[in-house]
This record gives sequence, C-alpha cells and structure tokens, in this order.
Amino acid sequence: MRFVQWSNGQRVPALGLGTWRMGESPRARKNEVQAVMQAFETGYRLIDTAEMYGDGGAESVVGEAIQLAINAGSVRREELIVVTKVLPSHATRDGVVRACERSLKRLAIDTVDLYLLHWRGATPLKETVAAFEQLRNQGRIQQWGVSNFDTSDMQQLWSFAEGRRCIANQVYYSASARDAEFDLFPWHREHSVVTMAYSPIDQGALARDATFDSIGRRHGISATSAALAWVLRQPDMIAIPMSGSAPHLRENFAAASVDLTAEDLAQVDAQFPPTKRKRPLATT
Ligand SMILES: NC(=O)c1ccc[n+]([C@@H]2O[C@H](COP(=O)([O-])OP(=O)(O)OC[C@H]3O[C@@H](n4cnc5c(N)ncnc54)[C@H](OP(=O)(O)O)[C@@H]3O)[C@@H](O)[C@H]2O)c1
Repeated sequence: MRFVQWSNGQRVPALGLGTWRMGESPRARKNEVQAVMQAFETGYRLIDTAEMYGDGGAESVVGEAIQLAINAGSVRREELIVVTKVLPSHATRDGVVRACERSLKRLAIDTVDLYLLHWRGATPLKETVAAFEQLRNQGRIQQWGVSNFDTSDMQQLWSFAEGRRCIANQVYYSASARDAEFDLFPWHREHSVVTMAYSPIDQGALARDATFDSIGRRHGISATSAALAWVLRQPDMIAIPMSGSAPHLRENFAAASVDLTAEDLAQVDAQFPPTKRKRPLATT
C-alpha cells in the first residue's frame, strides 16, 4: 500500500473505497454491507461516503459494516479513515453542525476523520469554515476539506487564515478527465493540499480500455488496476474507486502496489493527452 501525508503529518492510505450508489435500496443493503466488510478484509482502511448518497443510506451501510467488522476483529476503529461530505444546502454555520451530527449517528462513530464540503454553494466560505473549525475543536471531526473546488475557489479559501486549514480537495480525475492537472494540481502541491481522485476508473469505463489493457498485460494486472496505478503514480494522490464486488475490490487494491514505467506513461499520454489549456473542472 502507498500512503500520502496530510499537511498535519498524518499518513493515510492512498487507496480507499468509494460508496456512491450504495444505500439506495433496502434490498441491496445486505450485499452492500458485506461488500464494505469484504473491503476491510482485503485491506482497505479509508472509506469515502456522503450524506447525499442514498439520502444517508450509504453512511448507514458504512456504519453497519464498521460495527460488524470491529466486532469480528477484522479492523480497529483507530486504523480507519472515514471520510464523509456535507451538502452545500446544509453548509451554513448551524446547518453544518446539525448535518455532521446526523452523519455521525448514521455512521455510528463519534468522530469523522475527514469532513468535506461536497461542492461550493451559496453559503459564504467563511461561514462554512467557521462551522468546520467548531466541529474540529469539539472533536466531532478530525480534519476538513472541500470537493469539486477549482483553482479560483481554492484561492478564495486561502484568502482567510482559517481557510488554510483545508487538508484535501476531492475532484474528478482519471486518465480520461485530466483537466485538473493543468493548474489545480500544481496549486495543491504548492499549498500541501492532498488530492482525492473520484471516479478514477471513469465509473468502470476504463476497465474496458485497450490502452490500459495492454499496459496491464505487461504487468500481469487488469486494465482497471493499470488505470488506478496511473492515478496513483503521483505521490500526493488518493484514489477512491467504488466496487461492490469482491474480485473487483481485490483487483483494485492491487493497484496500490504497482509502479508504471516511463513507457506505460508515454502510452497513456498518447491515448489520453494532457490538458494544454485551462478548462473548468469536470464533474461526474
Ligand atoms: N465528491 C464528489 O462529487 C464525487 C463524485 C463522484 C464520486 N465520488 C466518490 O468517488 C467514488 C468513486 O467514483 P465512482 O463511483 O463515480 O466511479 P468509479 O470508482 O470510477 O467506478 C465505479 C464503477 O466501476 C465498477 N468497477 C469497480 N472496479 C472494477 C473493476 N475492477 N473492473 C470492472 N469494473 C469495476 C464498479 O462496479 P462493481 O461494483 O461491479 O465493481 C462501479 O460501477 C464514489 O463511489 C464516491 O465515493 C465523489
């Protein structure tokens, strides 16, 4: 497993599990809880969810899986990095605090390791950040960050002292969505902000990609593992692929131990050229 370092010095796994589309149907719940437990058994220790996913359903699936996995002895709470997100519509001073309490209840934990603003809404950033800082001082969250913030949003966050406590920005990033490389990632590096890559295998599409298939063959891994290894080639990058399937969970986890060669990287650049001009950040 690779690790990345947050600006407070904490080392966290570079590969985590996404949970979008979990918790949407009661009929799927048992399998979803099992998939998250399977992820813990496979070695995943970072999990990404949001109050939005399944209207709290995904947080509740994650909460149940954490409890069961702790009881079964397959994981300890202190090893886990639980990431969740507040909706912009709840991002007011009081709204954030209430939303966080609801998330903690569904997750059945007493602190969130990383709490993100899901995307920027109408509430002034200073107000949301004041609420994040209150939660951090009360121990209800350990760290906070943002999501879907472009470079100009990050610059606005950095325009006031407390905004600089932001530890991560979660954005869409895969070989087929490279816009963030142009000026956002350099900005993150300069300011010690960790990038969390969401939809890193383009919602499954890169599993069928011929370029990653041929790279994967050279390394004895699948196209998906190769596509994830490509995202993880950067030292300050966390990728959070979602999967509800045990073989996929294992396959994806293996990507965190693969080093791509210069030849592999050139092949990706030829097929998925890097962005040459500023474009607004893409979302899925
Ligand atoms: N902050 C935001 O605005 C935002 C937006 C989007 C996503 N996210 C987060 O990022 C996570 C990941 O993004 P995502 O769910 O959009 O897309 P993703 O992780 O790129 O792709 C997930 C899809 O790929 C399939 N898949 C996974 N591993 C595979 C493998 N080895 N071979 C073939 N197919 C595979 C999954 O199906 P199986 O279940 O069958 O494996 C699922 O359909 C989300 O779950 C969520 O936590 C955040």
